[in-house]
Amino acid sequence: MRVDVITIFPDYFGPLELSLIGKARGAGLLDLTVHDLRKWTSDVHRTVDDTPYGGGPGMVMRPEPWGQALDAVGAGTLVVPSPVGKPFTQADAHELASLDHLIFACGRYEGIDQRVIDDAAARLPVREISLGDYVLFGGEVAVIVIMEAVTRLLPGVLGNADSLTEESHAAGLLEAPVYTKPASWRERDVPDILRSGDHGRIARWRRAQSLLRTAARRPDMLAAYPDEFLDKTDRKT
Ligand code: ADE
Repeated sequence: MRVDVITIFPDYFGPLELSLIGKARGAGLLDLTVHDLRKWTSDVHRTVDDTPYGGGPGMVMRPEPWGQALDAVGAGTLVVPSPVGKPFTQADAHELASLDHLIFACGRYEGIDQRVIDDAAARLPVREISLGDYVLFGGEVAVIVIMEAVTRLLPGVLGNADSLTEESHAAGLLEAPVYTKPASWRERDVPDILRSGDHGRIARWRRAQSLLRTAARRPDMLAAYPDEFLDKTDRKT
């Protein structure tokens, strides 16, 4: 997968050299380039923003550098992180992971001049994505979050593909709690059932925990969970 990130703060993306994203890049699974938007300015001050038409607080990113930057990186799916975007979900991560070329446009200040998005949308698929109902300084951190969610879905990135099918949100429910050694720690014991070796009972226990957790923490997810996915045992509980 090819990814171009356009930002006025390229240094934000240092973490994308680390850990499994860094490894995916090293292995050639992810070809990621971070571009400084100011490269496409032509004035001595390398200006990227100006006051909003119609008045109001803050500054808006000017269209000219963005237009040139987007022309330069070529065709792909444009992703614009923004608090006015559609809330990001695991399903979106899967969709983005299936694409060949993603272009991330990191807005700052009050956002990017709307004409940039409209102009791009005339040529490219454009997705405005929000991480949640809160406002960040800019899109940079959102891009790192989206790239983590996407990169781990790329074929060959995770050693154990089972961890993708079993994890929270993959199945529309939150995952059961997990434990490792030692079996007893600060007088807290790992649930006996997980040490029983009875794989059928372990699977049923995990399923029940998963449903209980989802009911307690995310009733919205449980309500959206298809009834036909509940088996007989679940219905009784
Ligand atoms: N930029 C600023 N706030 C944001 C949010 N909540 N999600 C994505 N990008 C943003």
